[in-house]
Amino acid sequence: MPTSSDSGILLSPSIIASDLSTMGRDVSAFDPLAFDLLHLDVMDGNFVPNLTFGPGYIKSLKAHTAIPLDVHLMIESPELSVERYLELAPWCVTIHYESTKFPSRLLQLIRRSGVRAGLSVNPATPLEAIFDLCSECDLVLVMSVDPGFYGQPFMPASLDRIRRLREFLDGRPGGAATLIQVDGGISIKNIASVAAAGARVVVAGNAVFGAGDPNRAAFELKKAAQKG
Ligand code: DX5
Ligand code: ZN
Repeated sequence: MPTSSDSGILLSPSIIASDLSTMGRDVSAFDPLAFDLLHLDVMDGNFVPNLTFGPGYIKSLKAHTAIPLDVHLMIESPELSVERYLELAPWCVTIHYESTKFPSRLLQLIRRSGVRAGLSVNPATPLEAIFDLCSECDLVLVMSVDPGFYGQPFMPASLDRIRRLREFLDGRPGGAATLIQVDGGISIKNIASVAAAGARVVVAGNAVFGAGDPNRAAFELKKAAQKG
């Protein structure tokens, strides 16, 4: 299981940028040395305008791969269904700060289930809003696009948000272990800067699946990240 002390980044390719209808077969060809995690974007057509898949699909997919699952819940009131995802024993379950009135209770529930607890923050939400919740998190996801779709351009202001968050976490007792994840518009051109800013888990949709060979694209992204 990857940890924050491993060298380099953890790449988490987002399968919504691929063909979901053939993923059960395709997933077996993904090289676990390049695909550290599989990023699963759960969208409900309410918290975000797009609709993807739920726990049933993820359960079926899990039967075909040993790559740890990185579940990103873009759903309203995740407290109503989070248990369905926890049952699947993923690597992490990430909820959105903006999606619930009870983020703290939810993060505690996720942790008690033995799953890493992630908290995501949209570009329009002041970073300070989540500072008091960081001690309940194993991972903070800094969104670098408005959530909902793959293939959107990276918002450059995210770099400063990652830097400020890393600085805040490193200044707190135990905070150095909290992982920062970045999601949205990551490419071969900007991956080194997000890594240098302090992102350790990097999501990539279009940059992995938009080219011909996902394994090759994933290895190239990981290589480019080390130049930061
Ligand atoms: C955006 C999703 C992302 C998206 C990333 O709402 O959370 O995970 O699939 O795709 P790219 O890397 O193409 O922006
Ligand atoms: Zn995502």
